[in-house]
Amino acid sequence: SEKNSSSLEPREQWGTRLGFMLAAAGSAIGLGNIWRFPFVVGEGGGAAFVLIYLGFVLLIGLPLLIGEISIGRKGQANAMDSYKAIQPRTKWYLNGFIGILISFMILSFYSVVSGWAFYYFIQALTGQLIAPNRDYGSTFGGFITDPIMPIVFQVLLMTIVVIIVMGGVKKGIEKWNNILMPTLFLLLIVLVVRSLSLENAHIGLSFFLKPDFSVIDSTIILAALGQAFFSLSLASGLYVTYGSYINKKNSIPANAGGIVFLDLLVAIMAGLIIFPAVFHYGIDPGRGPDLVFVTFPTIFTDMPFGALFAVLFFFFIFVAALTSAISLLEVVVAFIKEKFHLSRKIAAPITGAIITVVGMFCALSFGSLSHVTLFDRTIFDILDFLTAEILLPFAGLILSIFLGWIWKPAGVREEVEKEGNSLPLYSIWSFLIRYVIPVVILIVFIDSLGII
Ligand code: PFF
Repeated sequence: SEKNSSSLEPREQWGTRLGFMLAAAGSAIGLGNIWRFPFVVGEGGGAAFVLIYLGFVLLIGLPLLIGEISIGRKGQANAMDSYKAIQPRTKWYLNGFIGILISFMILSFYSVVSGWAFYYFIQALTGQLIAPNRDYGSTFGGFITDPIMPIVFQVLLMTIVVIIVMGGVKKGIEKWNNILMPTLFLLLIVLVVRSLSLENAHIGLSFFLKPDFSVIDSTIILAALGQAFFSLSLASGLYVTYGSYINKKNSIPANAGGIVFLDLLVAIMAGLIIFPAVFHYGIDPGRGPDLVFVTFPTIFTDMPFGALFAVLFFFFIFVAALTSAISLLEVVVAFIKEKFHLSRKIAAPITGAIITVVGMFCALSFGSLSHVTLFDRTIFDILDFLTAEILLPFAGLILSIFLGWIWKPAGVREEVEKEGNSLPLYSIWSFLIRYVIPVVILIVFIDSLGII
């Protein structure tokens, strides 16, 4: 049905009301929650970071999410052209283009970490991961520094992602999310119970939940802001793209609220699993990006049916990563196919191949390219830092100005309120969008100018 994208063809739409919500939650919930959140919390000193993160999610994330979805539903096009549809003959569409670039950049390193999760799943499945007294730090170190295996799994993962995106919105993206997301929750609940029943769980809990504000500095505040954007998939063009496939009956604020709630829930559950275990087993919470790849196998080694749980757990991280990687590719593919009048079936593999090649340099930056650095950061670190902590908040700043001062709160409201829906707390929302969000992001940026 989808040979080209001429305007005569009706735009693809989600099959059910829940379709958008599950797909968007599938994008938001991913490695950002299960892999990135625990290690940035660990590096950021714990609960004070979590609290600042929570503040950013609720005061910046939620209001912007409502606005970003509205741009897509109003504009009915890819992340860039939706801006154009709303404000023709202006340059605001450049913010949509920045989002597309960011998605491209994120997927290049995201596909690497997704490949790691994929590898761990296969290792667990074939019974090669969990073994008594194994040093999981060197297991992981040995794997990511290898010149071949991480790339093999990155390429395999990207192949799956491309095939699903080729299938389109309803048959590809939606179907997968509907089955896989709910099962992830069940598994996480079991693991939370397990971790909380470990001896001395309270030490990890107070690290995660009892704030010590003396550890806070500008680096940590910027990291919390970046994590909020990254975890919500905010300002990356994702909500414009997915929002363009929703119909007008859907309540945008209800969807946004649901997405934020689920995303927070999974991050908090990941924290409740990781930190009690980290302190119980004497792992350094600030050890960095390998934190979950070391902590979880340690938990499973010391748990009844641990080898089975390892299979399930890495399967679900793999799935969570997959649904987010799909969303990242979809942002770029929606743009490429509409810009160059290509079909999905052509645009997805070409885009996927280019991103995979860039991603290989990220994969190698743990091994043979580890000496290639800029400001002490490897290729992987640069892409992660630049996207999460600089470009996403920057695109968010421009987004808030666009919503608050160009399209204006009344314009957003008109779109949100189609078909009898409402925008609750409109005046607070509009105040946040116009004043609070741009000012807070600017202050965080200025405050952290010295740290790059
Ligand atoms: N939100 C995803 C995660 O937390 O893993 C990462 C992500 C996906 C960021 C899609 C941006 C995006 F557009």
